[in-house]
Amino acid sequence: MSADSLTALATDNAHLASTAAQQAYRDYDKPGIDRVRTFYRNNHQHQTYAFVQQKKAHWLQFQQRSMTPWEGLDFLNTLVDESDPDTELPQIMHLLQTAEAIRADGHPDWFVLTGFIHDLGKVLCLFGEPQWAVVGDTFPVGCRPSDKIVYPEFFALSPDAQDARYNTDYGVYSPHCGLDAVHMSWGHDEYLYHLLKPYLPEPALYMVRYHSFYAWHREGQYQHLSNAHDEALKPWVQKFNPYDLYSKNPKPPSLAALKPYYEDLMAKYLPAQLQF
Ligand SMILES: [Fe+2]
Ligand SMILES: [Fe+2]
Repeated sequence: MSADSLTALATDNAHLASTAAQQAYRDYDKPGIDRVRTFYRNNHQHQTYAFVQQKKAHWLQFQQRSMTPWEGLDFLNTLVDESDPDTELPQIMHLLQTAEAIRADGHPDWFVLTGFIHDLGKVLCLFGEPQWAVVGDTFPVGCRPSDKIVYPEFFALSPDAQDARYNTDYGVYSPHCGLDAVHMSWGHDEYLYHLLKPYLPEPALYMVRYHSFYAWHREGQYQHLSNAHDEALKPWVQKFNPYDLYSKNPKPPSLAALKPYYEDLMAKYLPAQLQF
């Protein structure tokens, strides 16, 4: 797929994408998809409002260990994302392909860097978190889930579905309170956002924080909670999305050849050691 068509796709509703190649992505009905169903059953059942508060209190202290960005990326090579029906490639190859596609379109270097590290938060798996608490599509907790979220039927298994505090459209929130005040299901997006907050420009932070929030950036849900600032930044998240999705190509670029460029890029924006 050409770089131009990647950019054009950013403004499309990808569910309505017309080509066979596009339809092949995020196709949860492919054969062998049971692990994805199981993944989302666990995710929707256990990602409650209380669970998210507990995870934030724990992980956002960043008391695990200090690692260079590369050490974090090296770990990701050992991880296979159960929630992703599209690729069996090592994570670092997904990151490299995402970043290279962004770079090929001439975007700013911070955008390229964002592509290269956007899944670094998956190191939570290294610290023992189950994958259903790290990866997959994210959604607000503390209010009724949208039926546009993948496998919405599994939300009936969540105790929050029976809790009057959490099972209305607004739940614990007020109209247009802004996404910063909304607690998202716990995962690599929210974790990495907090880790990178001091270092990257705001559009990059929105891409990191909401790249798995498909119900918002693709389906147009949750606009009763977002505010004007969120909606103004949403196009950046949408611009990022096709690079994340459609740059998955079974033919990997050369990590060795590209490593010096990405080392320089990380040195420009990130500290030598990141506190995870
Ligand atoms: Fe991700
Ligand atoms: Fe990704």
